[in-house]
Amino acid sequence: MKRVELGKTGIEVSRLGIGTGTGTAHPSGYCAQALMDKDELAKLLLYALDRGINLWDTAFQYNTYPHIKKALKQVSRKDVVLATKLTTANEKETIRDFNITLKDLNTDYIDVCLLHGVRTDAELQMRSGAINAMVKLQKEGRIRAVGISSHGLSALKSILEMPEMDLVWARINYAGLNMDTGCLSMYDQMASVYWLKKCVKLLPERVKSFIRPKTNLQPPIPEDVHKEVTNMLQNIHSQSKGIVGMKVLAEGVLRNDAEKAVKYVNSLPFIDSFIIGMLNKKEIDENCRIINTASRELEGIEK
Ligand SMILES: NC(=O)c1ccc[n+]([C@@H]2O[C@H](COP(=O)([O-])OP(=O)(O)OC[C@H]3O[C@@H](n4cnc5c(N)ncnc54)[C@H](OP(=O)(O)O)[C@@H]3O)[C@@H](O)[C@H]2O)c1
Repeated sequence: MKRVELGKTGIEVSRLGIGTGTGTAHPSGYCAQALMDKDELAKLLLYALDRGINLWDTAFQYNTYPHIKKALKQVSRKDVVLATKLTTANEKETIRDFNITLKDLNTDYIDVCLLHGVRTDAELQMRSGAINAMVKLQKEGRIRAVGISSHGLSALKSILEMPEMDLVWARINYAGLNMDTGCLSMYDQMASVYWLKKCVKLLPERVKSFIRPKTNLQPPIPEDVHKEVTNMLQNIHSQSKGIVGMKVLAEGVLRNDAEKAVKYVNSLPFIDSFIIGMLNKKEIDENCRIINTASRELEGIEK
């Protein structure tokens, strides 16, 4: 598996990374990987590493720290690039959650620390205390790179004006499903306001699923917005910031078109690496095959 540098961070990652927060559609509210047995997911992460996949993506919210901790115990820490995300807004909460993260994962540093699911530029400003704390932790050598996972076009745009941001996790797929847009759903509008987000969590499941339709029930973003997202990512990348794609298969909605979905993101020159939620060895093997074949074809053309 080909390795690339994430922007100018000096961090080398595989083209393909493995996600551990696939969907939260289960009635329990847990993502698919959190529902896996700790040993089973740990073994899958080690299998992925054996196949050259060194980028492991998680978040405070995914409940997969126990699984990752188990896998990390069996490898040399430097062989894995660990990316995690925090939902915090202020400095105090960020330091608290970051320290819990280190303890839960049994590590003394995080490679990539992201502000989780930022929807608007206003939200980004409101969470500036969290960014300041992450930058401080970076200066102390406890974080190697700082960024956001973007859930809205205005948040994505703001990155261009933020030199402290080393990289971005951005949603991208050929179908335009569940990608960043300026038109936020009712759920995203509420969740972009910090205190309202806490209230949303308390709503009954039926109400939540009404205001936050599942990916397969959402219309794709219009073509011009898709173009705007790709142009934006190109601009961000031209500032030497790293870009990691996510939602490549639109949370599995594109599973019957996996080859097309993986090939599309793999062909984008401004995407350094991309994470896919993979739940078994077959999916890892298949995605590696698609990427490695595409790389060989490209090398053939270049020769
Ligand atoms: N949860 C969130 O809200 C969130 C938000 C942002 C980022 N993330 C991160 O981004 C990662 C990627 O997002 P995601 O996992 O939600 O969506 P995704 O990567 O677009 O889709 C994952 C799904 O794709 C299917 N799949 C993968 N490879 C396949 C193949 N070769 N053939 C057929 N199907 C295949 C699997 O579905 P089945 O096995 O079910 O068929 C898997 O559950 C997450 O795991 C997480 O680390 C999560």
